[in-house]
Amino acid sequence: MSFDLIVKGGVLPDGRTVDIGISGEAIAAIEPAISGEAGRVVDASGCLVSAPFVDPHFHMDATLSYGIPRINVSGTLLEGIALWGELKPLLTHEAVKERALAYCDWAVSMGLLAIRTHVDVCDDRLLAVEALLEVKKEIAPYIDLQLVAFPQDGLYRSPTARENTIRALDLGVDIVGGIPHFERTMADGTRSVTELCEIAAKRGLMVDMHCDETDDPNSRHIEQLAYETERLGLQGRVAGSHLTSMHSMDNYYVSKLLPLIAEAEVSAIPNPLINIMLQGRHDTYPKRRGLTRVREMLSYGIRVGFGQDCTMDPWYSLGTADMLDVAFMGLHVAQMSSPSDMARCFDMVTNVNAAIMGLDHLGLEVGKRASLVVLDANDPFEALRLRADRLCVVARGKVVAERPKRDMALSLPGRPATVSRRHKRAG
Ligand code: FE2
Repeated sequence: MSFDLIVKGGVLPDGRTVDIGISGEAIAAIEPAISGEAGRVVDASGCLVSAPFVDPHFHMDATLSYGIPRINVSGTLLEGIALWGELKPLLTHEAVKERALAYCDWAVSMGLLAIRTHVDVCDDRLLAVEALLEVKKEIAPYIDLQLVAFPQDGLYRSPTARENTIRALDLGVDIVGGIPHFERTMADGTRSVTELCEIAAKRGLMVDMHCDETDDPNSRHIEQLAYETERLGLQGRVAGSHLTSMHSMDNYYVSKLLPLIAEAEVSAIPNPLINIMLQGRHDTYPKRRGLTRVREMLSYGIRVGFGQDCTMDPWYSLGTADMLDVAFMGLHVAQMSSPSDMARCFDMVTNVNAAIMGLDHLGLEVGKRASLVVLDANDPFEALRLRADRLCVVARGKVVAERPKRDMALSLPGRPATVSRRHKRAG
């Protein structure tokens, strides 16, 4: 049998060493040894080969805007929203597109091949919506981009947000977003969840809301989101992003809430880098961590992914499009340190995130799309420890990024000439 591409000798996350044969845009064979002809062979000997990284929560309309027109001095979510309000009138179609495409180049270099981005619809020009719809089309050969209509300033709090949300969906935005904790009252927040879920149900769309991104334990909009998901038959198509208030909620209430979220099949998308940076800012000490209850949700069978949220924008000054950074922070803050927990965190930023986004075509299986990443690591554990270099990225059967291994040269008497930070663990 002949293939267009063979990725040879890679180690899958489950520990099997395999060759992967690719024909066109699909994985045609995964076997211990493939002997057929190939247009090209990628040597992945001893390196982890994984499904691509997937980010289910991002803001591509704001990315790489750090410093325009100023920086966020307090570091709070609310100053970030105010600063974004100052930046919005300065945005141009070209600048949004240019920054988004620059970010997508970073993403490809990191093996990040699917992204769900929220796009603010509170600017009546819908300039960012139009720019990102164009970006989506341009990057389709290598990145799956989903857009969420996001009324950043509140569906009811901003006078035209409701109408603009509908306009954005009519233009082709994929998913219905919301921000109930930012509406004027709890009652308005509740009402916004109901109305937005009804819009999604009517149009056959998915829902992904910024939900309870606050340290206020009384912010319980996730309860309404789970309720509306059940009532409208949206099971499996709804995600609650952030859910940070759950960190501060009463334990008894949480013991009632988590089974409801599980029953409604609502996914949770915490964003560890941003949650640890923005939450707890009003605390002295003890200071809350602000990450939602990841381990507890997993124990109830709730699907939990990890998102990146921001890179160099009004809310967060750092970031490199590296989902391993996201998982690394997540496993620290959620204290998921056992080998099985760490393997789970790696799975969250690859396969689980893909499942949350409904991307059934991704995954390392015969017949699925030939998109994968070769990492300079022995296994997922080491990939996380090193935030390992991506040596080769394949998208839809084509090599789209590659780099040589970069062991550091040493000049030490009696020591080897180079050092690699990889290490075969005993256990
Ligand atoms: Fe967000």
